[in-house]
Amino acid sequence: MATAVKNSSAVEVRQTTCFIGGKWVPSRSGKTFATINPATEEVISEVAEGDTADVDAAVEAARKALAGRWGSMDARDRGRLMYKLADLMEEELEELAALESLDNGKPIRDARAADVPLAIDCLRYYAGFADKIQGDTIPIRGNYFCYTRREPVGVVGQIIPWNFPMLMVAWKWGPALAAGCTIVMKPAEQTPLTCLRMARLAQKAGIPDGVINVVPGYGPTAGASIVRHPGVDKIAFTGEHTTAQTIMKDASQTLKRLTFELGGKSPNIIFSDANLDAAIAGAHFGLYFNQGQCCCAGSRVFVQESVHDQFMERIAQMNKARKLGNPLDPQTEQGPQVDQAQFDKIMHYIDIGKSEGANCVTGGKRYGDRGYFIEPTVFDGVTDDMAIARDEIFGPVMSVLKFKDVEEVIQRGNNTCYGLAAAVWTRDIGKAHHLAAKLRAGTVWVNCYDVFDAAAPFGGFKMSGIGRELGERGLDAYTESKTVTVALG
Ligand code: NAI
Ligand code: MG
Repeated sequence: MATAVKNSSAVEVRQTTCFIGGKWVPSRSGKTFATINPATEEVISEVAEGDTADVDAAVEAARKALAGRWGSMDARDRGRLMYKLADLMEEELEELAALESLDNGKPIRDARAADVPLAIDCLRYYAGFADKIQGDTIPIRGNYFCYTRREPVGVVGQIIPWNFPMLMVAWKWGPALAAGCTIVMKPAEQTPLTCLRMARLAQKAGIPDGVINVVPGYGPTAGASIVRHPGVDKIAFTGEHTTAQTIMKDASQTLKRLTFELGGKSPNIIFSDANLDAAIAGAHFGLYFNQGQCCCAGSRVFVQESVHDQFMERIAQMNKARKLGNPLDPQTEQGPQVDQAQFDKIMHYIDIGKSEGANCVTGGKRYGDRGYFIEPTVFDGVTDDMAIARDEIFGPVMSVLKFKDVEEVIQRGNNTCYGLAAAVWTRDIGKAHHLAAKLRAGTVWVNCYDVFDAAAPFGGFKMSGIGRELGERGLDAYTESKTVTVALG
């Protein structure tokens, strides 16, 4: 097969250092690490490798900013700066999309249509909240005036993954800035470039020095230093549940507030009475979108027996027609996986699926001879006990499981340690709401998949996370409630 991608250096990489207290600085150690173009396996750029000393400086800058102009700024002005950042991103939409595509490998059409616009929308949504974070007046016994204030939780450490680098920045910065917090962020080591670019735009927008600090680097070093730092009040983390377990231990010393948005093995349930065209397209999109690298990927597709064969035939056709290749080509539908480690993990699960006796109907192989491309893969005849039905694969690998009736599929759908998302496809409105109530997941989509909005809360039951992001309640994790009681007379 032809080599998938020619090198493209059409995109200029401008920020590659730490961003601390408004200054662009190399790491204290002078160390750097390479960020790779996953489509070509070539180095895009060296990036400063932050560690404890850099985190210390970033936390100091964030504390200073909290005590300074940012901490006393009118809430409405904070909101205006956030709108300005969103406007600057919109002006650079094409460039941001290209940089995201280059660093992550996602098709530029997805970055243009989803990542960048959703990130902008999220910042605008929270900008509007900056001056609407209110407390209560509370009638208590006796001659007192009692009220609550909602204050910023303080300096927040934000540690994000590589699957939606820019969008994760917006999900984290949006509520933090609206609430008046200051930030020390560590982007994923695979994809630091758009986060650094956004920090530059935040600086251009006039967000004061030290409000946003970015320390690129690795998890066990820079990441763990943020988690352990006594000057950090809260950690917001998105990534793998085993990493969250480490973070919880490391944070216990200082009892930090924690919010976790972790993985899943989400059931996508297709009943025979569904609009099958929509259901099949939704199942395809719900798994293969973003190369299958979605925390909420519909990776367990439960198909009711009578429509199973039709489902398999159509999914196989769609997989064969899917266009893989250079992510910067606007026609490309599927790019490479993010790195060698993810590529190896996914190929390992494909081998496991075959050896467990599932039927690999399409894919199962590498695509091309350069870059981390994997063919869209679908396994039929998957049973609940197989590893490919239990573990998060985080790649373009769909497991199809047959079912007979409603109560059975609810029980099997919930039979997982995760609970991030689920979907139901049916024309029976009563059945749809019954499943929506019974499925143990933070989000249930009915006759749709992957519908996200900054206003709609997102997060997990069980081992898929703690807390909710987005929506008005997404601000809760970034505020402390203070009760003030005043004696009258
Ligand atoms: P990860 O959880 O290790 O990495 C996510 C972030 O956490 C990165 O910024 C990383 O540097 C940081 N990190 C790692 N160890 C840390 C530590 N000890 N202290 C503080 N920060 C730390 O995820 P990874 O290794 O990139 O991917 C492994 C698997 O995790 C994937 O195959 C996938 O199954 C899952 N994953 C889930 C995501 C989601 O959105 N829920 C996103 C990324 C990965
Ligand atoms: Mg890891």
